[in-house]
Formats: sequence, structure tokens, C-alpha cells
Amino acid sequence: MAILVDDVQLAVVGLGYWGPNLVRCAVEVEGARVKAVCDRSTTALAKLARRYPSVGGTQDLARLLEDPDIDGILLATPVSTHYELGKRCLEAGKHVMIEKPLASTVEECKELIDLAEERGLVLMPGHTFLYSPPVVKVKELLSTGELGELYFGTSSRVNLGIHQGDVSVVKDLAPHDFSILLYWLGRPDFVRAIGRAAIVPETIDVVFIDMGFPGGCLVHVELSWLAPTKLRRTVLVGSEKMMVYEDTSSEQVRIFDRGAELMEPQTFGEFQLSYRSGDILTPRLDAEEPLRLEVEDFVGAIVNGVQPRSNATLGLDVVRLIEATELSLEYNSAPVFVDPSLDGRRAVPDRRRSAAGMPIVQPPAA
Ligand SMILES: NC(=O)c1ccc[n+]([C@@H]2O[C@H](COP(=O)([O-])OP(=O)(O)OC[C@H]3O[C@@H](n4cnc5c(N)ncnc54)[C@H](O)[C@@H]3O)[C@@H](O)[C@H]2O)c1
Repeated sequence: MAILVDDVQLAVVGLGYWGPNLVRCAVEVEGARVKAVCDRSTTALAKLARRYPSVGGTQDLARLLEDPDIDGILLATPVSTHYELGKRCLEAGKHVMIEKPLASTVEECKELIDLAEERGLVLMPGHTFLYSPPVVKVKELLSTGELGELYFGTSSRVNLGIHQGDVSVVKDLAPHDFSILLYWLGRPDFVRAIGRAAIVPETIDVVFIDMGFPGGCLVHVELSWLAPTKLRRTVLVGSEKMMVYEDTSSEQVRIFDRGAELMEPQTFGEFQLSYRSGDILTPRLDAEEPLRLEVEDFVGAIVNGVQPRSNATLGLDVVRLIEATELSLEYNSAPVFVDPSLDGRRAVPDRRRSAAGMPIVQPPAA
């Protein structure tokens, strides 16, 4: 295949479980070319070289950073390396897409964002679900107000998954739900969580997270690497309609014209409910691969100097929610406010108990 001079030249770093998927998608993106890959492991490099013989391979990231032809780097290394490696890429003048989550702490994310802004570079977290056709369809439903006032939502992301070496199930799986919920509903006011380390001591592998959004919508998220079957299911209940999004189903989005309404009381003190049980609609969805769309968006952002849909501000909010969840876990499931003005001095719950038995969160000092 001819290489066009204007092609954006990419390199993929990290060829473990996820990185090869990025390579596979990146080679298909029009206007881009995968020039090189990098991994510390020679076995991973050799495996990739068999599949993509024209792509160069190295064990040393510095070699890619010195290469003036490489415009953008896709980082698929463990979470604990995101900040350090992302920073090195930006300092070398490379646009960078970092797999989720953007970094381990809010402070690290902010540093990366400032660095990218100073240098006029694209910094993109890899929140793949924002490119998933069912997720985009639900965003449309919410934008047009089809579900009405949103009352609450529930989400399950569980399976017998791989225990990650460097993170808990919160950092591994919550970025998916947090990024989707931020995209759909904006930033929640508070988060509270309960969890346990069932298998590996100190590594939380099951967590239940509650979130309260402005306007009163409540969302419950259940995450676990321990479950008999794989479940990826989100339900949203609105005043007009209800919606089920099931990623593993052949009908990924179903909209239910169902609900309950309180009638005007006929006599004093007598309440009556009217139930509606109408049609179920399954919207048609595009059969696009989200990861390819994500890499396309990264390349488009480099070429056109625009923000990708999965942008660094959203990536920062995801990490803010992770930190709030971890703080709540540390403090007996107390609710923790997520307002960005509290960064660095997030409300620390005290040990007193409310009447309902919940620890009380001290309002932050103004
Ligand atoms: N978007 C998604 O749906 C999705 C799915 C799975 C994983 N991920 C993300 O992808 C990232 C990688 O996860 P994984 O499961 O593939 O991890 P992994 O441990 O399987 O692979 C990581 C690879 O990075 C390499 N590596 C580590 N440090 C390096 C360095 N300094 N230079 C070069 N190579 C280095 C390792 O040798 C390894 O091959 C994580 O951030 C994870 O959250 C995203």
C-alpha cells in the first residue's frame, strides 16, 4: 500500500492484552499509518511482527520519541505507567491517546492536560464506549428528552474477569461506566461506595457504587471480576419511557413505553396510580467497531486541531469519580462530593453517624 506524505504516523506502545486491538484498528484508519510498535517483551514484539511485518518494533520507547516522523502515540500499558509514559510522549512533542483511565490521580491528569495545552498537542483518554453505537443512541434519546425526567438508573458490569496486577476493579472497570454516565448525564454531585477484596487481600474485586446527579437522578453501578456469567446491562427509568442497554445482547437497546403516574386523588387521602404498558422499540444501530472510530477520532483531532469526543476533560472527571469512590470506600461508604473546586481538599467524612446510620460528610470549608 502506498504511504501518503500527509498520513498521520502512529506508534502503539504496550502489546499485552489490549494493544494488539489498537494496532488492528489503527492500520484500518484512512489517513493514518502505523509506523512502529513498542513493548518491553520481545515475545509480544515477535508475535506482532508475524502479523504486521512492515511495522517496525522496538523495546525502547525513547527510540519512538526521537523519531521525528511519528506524530501520535497510542499507549496501552498498565495504568500505573500512564502518567509517566504519557508525560514523556507529550514532552517529546507527540500527540497521545492513553488507554483508560487517563492517569492514576486527578493531579497527574491535570499535569498532563496542562502540558498538552502548552504544547498544542492532542491528549485523549481511550474511553472506547463513547464510540459504541448503542451508547451514542442512548445519548440521542436523552438529548431529545424521549425518556422524560430521568428518575434513576442501574448498571451491571460483571464477569469472571482477570484480576489486574496493579489496580482494583474500580480503576479497571469503573472508567467504562463513569465515562458513559458523564457523556449521558454530566457530572454527578456525589458518589458513595461499598466493596470488598474477596480473593486477593487489599485488591477490591467487587464494588457497588451509588451516584446522585443534579436534578435528583440516582444511579447504582455494580462492578465485579467475580460472577458466573458476563453481564453488561444498564437500565434508565424516566417519567415518559424506560430503556435497557445490554451490550452482549442481539438487541442492544430496547425502549419501553412504560411507566406509572399518580392520579389526582378522587377523595381525601386516596391515591391512585395509572400504569402504562405500551410498545417496546428496538432501534436500528450502526455496526461500526467502536475502537476503530476512537482511533479515527484521535487522527481527526490531530489533523483538524479539534477536541476528540473522548476528551481529556472527561478523562479527568472519570479519575475524579474514581478518587471519590476510593475515598468513600476508605471512609465506611460515606457520600463524597465530586465538585472540581474540591480537588485536593475533597470532603473527608468524619466518624459521627447520622440518624440513618450513615457517617456524616463534613461540608467542605468555603
Ligand atoms: N478500552 C478498553 O476496553 C480496554 C480493555 C482492556 C484494557 N484496556 C486498557 O489498556 C491498558 C493495558 O491493559 P492490558 O490489559 O493490555 O495490560 P497488559 O498487562 O496485558 O499489557 C501491557 C503491556 O505493556 C507493556 N509495557 C509495560 N511498560 C512498558 C514500557 N515502559 N514500555 C513498553 N512496554 C511496556 C508490557 O510488557 C505489556 O505487554 C490499560 O490501561 C487498560 O486499562 C482498555
